[in-house]
Amino acid sequence: MISESLQRTFALASSGRKLTSQFVTGICGGFDGNDIGDEVARETSFSARAEVMKLKAVIAVDSVYGNTKLVAEAFKEEIEKAGHEVELINLRKEFRVPSEGDLLFIGSPTRVAKMTAKAKKFVKKLDAAAWSGKTVVVFDTHMPLPDDPEKQKKAMKWVEPGAAGRLSVLTAERGLKVHSPPLRFMVSDMKGPLAPGELEKARALAREIIA
Ligand SMILES: Cc1cc2nc3c(=O)[nH]c(=O)nc-3n(C[C@H](O)[C@H](O)[C@H](O)COP(=O)(O)O)c2cc1C
Repeated sequence: MISESLQRTFALASSGRKLTSQFVTGICGGFDGNDIGDEVARETSFSARAEVMKLKAVIAVDSVYGNTKLVAEAFKEEIEKAGHEVELINLRKEFRVPSEGDLLFIGSPTRVAKMTAKAKKFVKKLDAAAWSGKTVVVFDTHMPLPDDPEKQKKAMKWVEPGAAGRLSVLTAERGLKVHSPPLRFMVSDMKGPLAPGELEKARALAREIIA
């Protein structure tokens, strides 16, 4: 009975399914203390709960001027605050494609309407089997649209769908489960800084996704 429950619990944890304490308690609540004694059941139930609740998130980001990296770092901080483990990969410094984790974030600045070559290469090289069933969250930074409606119309093709929209399509084409919508953050000028409130928005979104 216990080993069956544990197996199910661990399988769910490694499948990347959102885990809440309620969900875990629900599973752990299925232990039948009569088989081996209440105390052992309680102990096992507690350790299973602690282990299941800690997820591993990987955040892979490319960033030319550091703005998209700041968003990635805000995600990392919030996810860690929630008690989970986070591996942050700065693709500009080290190109690495991880094959283990429960949740994957991929970020790129929008440049000439697209994602960067490094971000594209990262998605293409992802081990689709290893990340199958896990949620992939894509994000980008982009320039602001001009206020003038005519200029705005002309600029739209450079901003929409942007790196995040394109990352989303590319990731889905690899057969992976992509969080919708793609997460987008605006910079105030061509090279940054991030527009006011964007880091707070990133933190709130990270909390929402991990909840
Ligand atoms: C050469 C160049 C091209 C850019 N092209 C676009 C573009 O097509 N669309 C857009 O929304 N922003 C564009 N931007 C603004 C970038 O999105 C901005 O520099 C980026 O969000 C900053 O992120 P980073 O600091 O992580 O590199 C461009 C910026 C540069 C320098």
